[in-house]
Amino acid sequence: MLLLAAIAIPLGLDLYLPVPEENPLTAEKIELGRRLFFDRRLSRDGSLACASCHDPERAYSDGRSVAVGVSGRIGRRNSPALINRGYGRLFFWDGRAASLEEQVLLPIQDSDEMNLSLAEASARVGLAPGEISHALATFVRSILSGNSRFDQFVNGDRNALSAEEQAGLQLFRGKANCTACHVGPNFTDERLHNTGIAWRDGRFADSGAGHGDFKTPTLREIARTAPYMHDGSLATLNAVVEYYNRGGNGNPQLDPELHPLHLSEGEKRNLIQFLRSLSTR
Ligand code: HEC
Ligand code: HEC
Repeated sequence: MLLLAAIAIPLGLDLYLPVPEENPLTAEKIELGRRLFFDRRLSRDGSLACASCHDPERAYSDGRSVAVGVSGRIGRRNSPALINRGYGRLFFWDGRAASLEEQVLLPIQDSDEMNLSLAEASARVGLAPGEISHALATFVRSILSGNSRFDQFVNGDRNALSAEEQAGLQLFRGKANCTACHVGPNFTDERLHNTGIAWRDGRFADSGAGHGDFKTPTLREIARTAPYMHDGSLATLNAVVEYYNRGGNGNPQLDPELHPLHLSEGEKRNLIQFLRSLSTR
């Protein structure tokens, strides 16, 4: 009840947004979290806020292939879009954090990102680490995307998607097999899979959760979050669809759901058109 008072759940998303008992969702905490999210004091040299790498204009991603932290430190991974993460169960590309409350304190301390101790962060903003964690997690939980043209279509507006987009949706669910992993209101099974992205020259450039496994990301707002994949190695949706069409990068741990799709040029175009319909602007 409290939850519905503080936040409106957009069309197409699960009305039940899980919230931990010890960190109730309130409008005040969302606001405090929002301020912290844009606060550059959380980085050692004051050069970066969370929003530097998670830009609201790009659905909270940053347009770079991999993140750049304080003093120009180049990270290993792409800054993910922070969309509907309140429904998430695993955080980071390799799923190594189990809750948003745990996750949000890690970039502050990461030497490749903000590089600040929690003691120093607390002193600078006048909040205990637990309060910083609760507020940032609550703000991230409030970042929701639903109500795209796809959602309006599913909700009964048969004209919300063009004929090409509808054909793309059919491919997404059928021949292209995308829903094997990108499933449910948030287009993710919240599981780890090896799609071969990190496999190069006979080895894993980044072993992820051990066998080249990475978390299935949401596809909402996907047209706004290029470049794609945990290493930002695919620049466009076109490149992503070509990648899946050839069955990913073959490797000993490749997920059995990936195989060559034999899509025609027209089918590829329709699939991309459908993916674009998942953005709200
Ligand atoms: C220097 C760029 C950078 C900054 C600054 C940064 N992040 Fe991130 N963020 C990343 C990258 C890169 C990842 C993925 C890292 C990985 O998976 O190993 C990430 C992952 C995340 C995730 C996990 C998303 C998911 O789907 O699992 C959340 C949540 C998040 N960041 C929130 C924040 C918050 C809150 C702050 C500020 C305290 C912040 N980030 C600061 C680059 C950044
Ligand atoms: C076996 C599970 C699986 C299947 C099937 C699958 N995906 Fe993915 N998808 C993933 C995983 C896991 C990632 C992240 C991989 C990485 O970063 O290394 C991903 C990443 C993506 C991304 C990049 C998202 C981002 O934020 O960077 C797009 C776009 C995408 N998939 C679209 C599709 C489409 C379209 C299909 C169908 C043709 C499809 N996927 C089939 C699991 C899957």
